[in-house]
Amino acid sequence: MLTNVVGRIFLLKNFRFSQNLNSNINPNLSLLRKWRNSANTVFSRRISLEAKKADQDGFVPFLEMMRCRRSEASKSVLVQVQSAQSYKELHSYCSTFGTVNNIFHYTAGGEQLHFLIVEFSKESEVQQLLTYSSHVNDFEGIPVQTNFLWFKASGRKSKLKQSKSIKLDIENGNCIPKEEDIREALRSCNNISEQISTLHNITTLNEVATRLRFLTARQVEMCLLGLFPNAIAYPFGSSVNGFGKMGCDLDLVLRLAGDKISGESRLVFHSKALNGYDRSISQRHMEVMGDLLQFFLPGCTQIRKILQARVPIIKYYQQLTDVECDLSMSNMSGVCMSDLLYMFGSIDERVRPLVFTIRKWAKEVGLTNSSPGRWITNFSMTLLVLAFLQQPDNCPPILPTFNTLIKNAGSKDKFVTEDGINCTFLRDIEKLKYKTTNTDNLESLLKQFCEFYSSFDFSTKAVCLNEAVSITKPEHSPLYIVNPLERGLNVSKNVSLEELEKFKYELRNATWILESQEKKTSNWGILEMFESKRKVYPSNSVIPSKQGRLMEVSKLFDDTEQTQESVIIKNENVEKEIQQIRTDTNQRIRNIGNNIRKVSRQKSRR
Ligand code: CTP
Ligand code: MG
Repeated sequence: MLTNVVGRIFLLKNFRFSQNLNSNINPNLSLLRKWRNSANTVFSRRISLEAKKADQDGFVPFLEMMRCRRSEASKSVLVQVQSAQSYKELHSYCSTFGTVNNIFHYTAGGEQLHFLIVEFSKESEVQQLLTYSSHVNDFEGIPVQTNFLWFKASGRKSKLKQSKSIKLDIENGNCIPKEEDIREALRSCNNISEQISTLHNITTLNEVATRLRFLTARQVEMCLLGLFPNAIAYPFGSSVNGFGKMGCDLDLVLRLAGDKISGESRLVFHSKALNGYDRSISQRHMEVMGDLLQFFLPGCTQIRKILQARVPIIKYYQQLTDVECDLSMSNMSGVCMSDLLYMFGSIDERVRPLVFTIRKWAKEVGLTNSSPGRWITNFSMTLLVLAFLQQPDNCPPILPTFNTLIKNAGSKDKFVTEDGINCTFLRDIEKLKYKTTNTDNLESLLKQFCEFYSSFDFSTKAVCLNEAVSITKPEHSPLYIVNPLERGLNVSKNVSLEELEKFKYELRNATWILESQEKKTSNWGILEMFESKRKVYPSNSVIPSKQGRLMEVSKLFDDTEQTQESVIIKNENVEKEIQQIRTDTNQRIRNIGNNIRKVSRQKSRR
């Protein structure tokens, strides 16, 4: 059970982050350069060390990381202040309730609003502080008690002793790097591999952004404390799986009973009866939850209830932490999936930078989009990268198969969700009996990724992480990626044929760009890939094989005239491709029509 995994003893000191981090986190260029040279965020530094196993504390399994982050959040409060400099006074004030471990500063509301995250050494100290804190009067605000507060001006000169030695641990810690600064940092790299790791280092979710996500989840738990003292709002998805970038959304699954399982006690709480899973009832519960957020919880705005979806969700924006949230009350499979992705990302340090670059490329060329639609999602794109890294063509593969993780699972890794999804797999990479000897650099892996999927037979094959082989598609969705935890499901069922064709087109375009990096323009390497929307590529017939493509492309670059000629050919080829898709689709429709007519004729004969 989950509690077996969660319940492992975890020494908090093992997960303590180093103190006195960079004190001035303005994403200016020099800082980005600093970021480039050393993974600056504590979270990412830790993760990269985990991957290298150079950290003396060793690998932190996902559920232990979650437990530690949740514990950090329950010992912390978020306080709105006048400016970053208010930390000295706030520190003195908070010290009257207990020991202050850390203070982090960040801004929200277009850098207009200043906040401090104050972390105490014990949860009981936060309780004392909250008990002593006051409400505005009843006519002005709903008197809820959560972890979000503001610091009133004292009115008279503060008598509190302010220690001069107190320092802010992080200032301006929630700044999303500006696009131009990212590009500038990428331009100044020496090679494509360096660009890929730089992009990861400067855009990955940092310490403050991670804490803000757990504080946002904690606020939801605190709002329910009276009725559901064991309720847990689990963050999942990119906020915690190691593939999240600054500004990513927060996926939350609310479990009213937490991870408390029916106990031994003879006294059992009376409760309203629930007759199994009733969709309309669970939609009503979500509706109530949405109303709670909307009418009672400070900072929760833009509430949208999407109750007709397969998994009903409440979308909202928490303006005090500057986080977009998707709250659901479904099963734990999303959390287990995040655990699985966290595992894969931790096995080899090249995985996360590669995923970041491919996700960024996909966004830039318009393959992915933050709103739901017929396009590939970030999650599907991540699975495509992971599946590629498992391929034996990589000689030897960088990642093990999911089945290897299942085979290596110990008794503590057993977990089956209440609706029967088996999420048992190894959760500790220290125990993984798999070590790759593949030493390919990031540039080479990026090229191989593009080539691998350029020639992948999507029409008959499905991508499957369970085994390192592509399997025959069980049905006719254009893109089929087997859900590793629920093998009967296609993660990319939403993707249309048109979007898949666009993906293949962009892959070929990216391959061409990566293979023709002879002259460095200002937007070279992955920057050029990101701009490929404006470029054209040679069609399949021009670049039949890897070798052939290499020669063809350099030739194109050597000869301006030929390049111009090729551009025309390429444009024609794009047109031809589109025409081909149209013809194929029409043919398919005709076939379906013929089949239907055939069946009805047979029926009428009978
Ligand atoms: N998920 C899943 N099966 C799906 C879709 C999503 O298990 N078919 C889970 C995954 O754990 C995924 C999480 O739900 O990571 C959140 O989904 P989503 O927000 O779409 O993706 P993220 O990985 O969070 O990426 P993004 O940064 O785009 O939010
Ligand atoms: Mg998400």
